[in-house]
Order: sequence, then structure tokens, then C-alpha cells
Amino acid sequence: MNLKDLYINFFIEKGHKQIPSAPVIPENDNTVLFNTAGMQPLTPYLKGMPHPLGTRLVDYQKCIRTNDLDSVGDSTHHTFFEMLGNWSLGDYFKDDSIKWSFEFLTNVLGIPKERIAVSVFEGNELVSRDIESHDLWKSLGITEDHICYLGVDDNWWPNMELLGPCGPDTEIFYWRSDEPVPDKADLTDERWVEIWNNVFMQYNHDQNGFTELSQKNVDTGMGVERTTAILEGVNDNYLSSIFKDYIDIIAKYSGKPYDEEYAPSMRIIADHIRTIVMITGENSGVRPSNTDQGYILRRLIRRAIRHESKLGIDTNSDLFSVLIDMVIEKFKSYYPELETNRDLIQDVVETEKKKFSNTIGKGLKEFNKIIDRGANEIDATKAFHLYDTFGFPIELTSELAHEKGLSVDIDGFHKLFSEHQEKSRAGASGKFKSGLSGTGEIETKYHTATHLLNAALKVVLNDGNIHQRGSNITEERMRFDFNFDRKLTDDEISKIENLVNEWINNDYTVTCEEMNKMDAVNAGAEAMFIERYPDLVTVYTIGNVSKEICTGPHVEHTNVLHHFKIVKEEASSAGIRRIKAILD
Ligand code: SER
Repeated sequence: MNLKDLYINFFIEKGHKQIPSAPVIPENDNTVLFNTAGMQPLTPYLKGMPHPLGTRLVDYQKCIRTNDLDSVGDSTHHTFFEMLGNWSLGDYFKDDSIKWSFEFLTNVLGIPKERIAVSVFEGNELVSRDIESHDLWKSLGITEDHICYLGVDDNWWPNMELLGPCGPDTEIFYWRSDEPVPDKADLTDERWVEIWNNVFMQYNHDQNGFTELSQKNVDTGMGVERTTAILEGVNDNYLSSIFKDYIDIIAKYSGKPYDEEYAPSMRIIADHIRTIVMITGENSGVRPSNTDQGYILRRLIRRAIRHESKLGIDTNSDLFSVLIDMVIEKFKSYYPELETNRDLIQDVVETEKKKFSNTIGKGLKEFNKIIDRGANEIDATKAFHLYDTFGFPIELTSELAHEKGLSVDIDGFHKLFSEHQEKSRAGASGKFKSGLSGTGEIETKYHTATHLLNAALKVVLNDGNIHQRGSNITEERMRFDFNFDRKLTDDEISKIENLVNEWINNDYTVTCEEMNKMDAVNAGAEAMFIERYPDLVTVYTIGNVSKEICTGPHVEHTNVLHHFKIVKEEASSAGIRRIKAILD
């Protein structure tokens, strides 16, 4: 049995109910691109909402992290990975959590306890030293020298500054080396690899500080790829049974060995194909595009094609199609949507491949010409030319440049990019002045209206703790969920409409800036699930009425929204209200 099945079965035996993996493209949430941890979809329950399946849950969750997309190519990084997790929602706490983790690792997985070390929280002004966890580990036979007290930087999840449910944790490490296990564990030694994180989540952190949650939770997370590699005794995740088949096929198509020179490209293709299948195979309908998840998808496909070409594989070969089928075979019993969407996945990738295969060769020639001219930087115009004419995402140009020791004027590129967008937008509005809007234009307006509504609710209901809990936009209307515990009165509804319309008429400018996540929060930016964001976030500011972390896109001036009207206000679920509104 594989790790996933062993894990799920073990916790079911301990009274847990299995919950399905949530989609990797978050539903009703446009503030983050992808689901990045098992606990994310459970946030409302961790905060106290009763879960229909009870207080003990277990799952495997599809996750995508793009913050270190550029690091993929080494032996440990992945964009898609699966996270195993078990949760107690106000049920068991440290005692059972630690005992069961130990039992699973040593009895089920057969890891000798000598190869395990743990870290526990050393304490601070909010929470005292976690002697209880220390003693539990000790009673299970972990030696004193393998139990390390560490501070908030290591043993607080997610970290002291981020908002949302949080608490001290105990992390479990495995000695991944043929060298003898050291008597005293130094967890900064990279041979100690973290495999499991048990968070004792007992606080909610919001703008006003830390408050005790109504219940004490346990939230744990274990990465499937890393732990599988460890169990199989390989030091390269891509040589574990999870990845080996893809690597073998890629090696065969290329006729190259999996060595220092070629392994990075092989790993990039294997990793990216898995992620491409997971994104395209969901029912969310994400397709390659130049924004949001669609842009990540495009980058992944084009980067994989570039590495195919780097390995000397004909980019018109059927390698990707073969790999896609392999991914689906491996995952279809866990994620049945992949089987349902098999043809669609193949089609989407094939179409994007055709688009790029036609231009990549010419683009690479153009790139080499720049190099041959002895340039030491790819200037903005050239980078934009590679993007505009040959479809090279800027990140791809950067990667190519980096390999040749050149720099790229990325800021300059972004400037040209926005200028170009302005021009085409102006062109499009001219063309569609009969009243038809360009694709996406109306959704963009609704997107901005969402921010105004979010801000207006706080003002009119005089409650700074109101936050977005979900949103969904179509060409016809917007839907907005927020936490509030009663029906709104007619008077409140009209006040909210009036305020949003006043702001629309004030024709505020919408500005966008990239900021460090914590700076954004400290500047008062509205953030739905702060722990989900990458370190660098985009913040949209509307006049002096709204500031939100969001991936966009948004209009530039509020008066293009014209007029805002609420058509419905109703309960969505316990403690959550839902507003449907239109722009007319
Ligand atoms: N939320 C914690 C993590 O992501 C434990 O699941 O590591």
C-alpha cells in the first residue's frame, strides 16, 4: 500500500472521517491563485463552524505552490504536491496527536525511533513553553537530545505576524543520511528533514491581536513526495516511485542520461506536466491565458516545451501526451475528475503546444542573436519583442538569460507591457462601442465592485471584522459572501448601495502595487486568508476607501462601473451572508 492509503486508513481507524481533496483552484475566492495547504479549505471549521462530518477529519489535498517555481529543477522542489493531514476540531489535542504520529511513523511506516527528532515550542509572552509535548515525546522513547526547544521562527504556524488561525507546533524530523544518526540533534543540519508538522491551533490572530479560538484544534501536514522519497531511501525526490516512470520516459525520448547536465530539464518536465494536468483537469475551466492561473498554466506549458527542446526532443513528438496519460493513470482513483476530463486536458495542452511550437524555434534564434551581439543585458524592448512576437513569458526569457549569465530589464518589460495593454484596451473599447464589451471587461468591473462592496459593508454595518468569505463573478452579476450573523435591513441595503454608488461617482483612481506581504498587512490591506499568499503580493487601492490584496484585474477608474444595485441578500451558511448585485 502506498503512503497516502496507509495514512488515510490509519486515521480512519482512529475515528477520523475522510474528506475529499478540495479543488486546487480555490472556489469562490479570487484572492489567491491556488490552494497551498491542507488546512486552507478548512479555515471556517478551524475557526469554530461545525463540520458536517464531525470533529476528526483526515484527507490528502492537492496543493500548488508557485513561489519557488524557478527552483524546480533541483532534487527537492515541486510546484504540485499532495499534503496529508489529520485534524481535530476541538476534539483531541496534543496527547493523541503526538501519540498517533509516533505510532504511524514507527509502527505503520516502520521508521526506527532513533532516526526521529522533534522540535517543540520554547515559549513566549503569549504561550508558555510546551513542556507537555516535550514530555509526551520523551514518554514515547525519543531521547532528550532529540527533542529541541525552538522559538516562534520555527515552532509557530504560520508565523507570529500572519493573520488567521494559528498556534505553536511540534515538527517531526527524519535523519536522511547514511551517516550514523548524531546523538544530539542539530535541526539546522540539512540531513534532518522535516516530514510532519503538528500545529496546536488555539488562537485566531486578527487586526486586534490574538484571541483564544472557541475550540482547540490540531492541524497536521505531511508532504507525500518528500516522505515517499525518504521511505524509499532515495535522496532525490524525482527518483522515488512517484516520479521515476516519468523520468524514464523522458530519458528514453531524449536519449540522454539522467545526470547533472540533463536531470534538471527532465525534472522540470515531470513536475510541470503533473501540475498542468491538475490545473487543466479541474472543473474550474482554467485555460492558458495571460492572467492569473491561466498565466501560470501558460508559463508551465511553455517552460516544459523549452526544456523538451533543450533535451533535443522534437517538440512535435507525443511525449507530453504520453506523460499526461501517465499522470491520469496514477491519480485517477484519487481524483476522478482527471479521468472525466482526459480529452480536454490533452486538447488544451496540444493547442497551447501548437501555438508555442511554431514560434519557440524562431524566438530562440532571436535570443541567440542578442547574445551573439555581445549584449550583457536583455533590455526591455528585446524582452517585450520576445514576448509579443514569439510568446516568451518574461520568466522564460529570464531563465534563458540567467543560464547565459545575462540580466534582464524586468521592470522595463513590465512598463512596456502595461503601455501595450492600455493601447489595446483603448482599441478594444473603440471597436466595441456599440455596447458589446470585450471579453473580460465586464468581469473586471465586477471585480472592482467587489472591493467597493467589501469596504462599504464595514462602514455601513460599522463592523471592521466583516470580511469576504467568497465571491463569484459572471458576466451577468456578482455574488459576495461575508461573515455577519443576521439579515440586513432594507435601510442598510440602500445605504450600502448609496455608498458604493457615491464612490463610483467620485471616480476614484484604482492603483496597483507589488508589496511585501507583511508591509501590505501593516498598511491595512484587506486580506482574506493571509497564510495563503506568497511573500510578494499585489495590492489594489481605490481612492482612500479600499485597499485589498488581490490578483486583479481591475478597472482604472471607478466611474466606469456606472451604477451598482443589490438584487438579493440571503443566508449562505451559518454566520455567512450572501449578496447578489449587478452593475447597470
Ligand atoms: N498547516 C500546517 C502546514 O501547512 C500543518 O498542516 O504545515
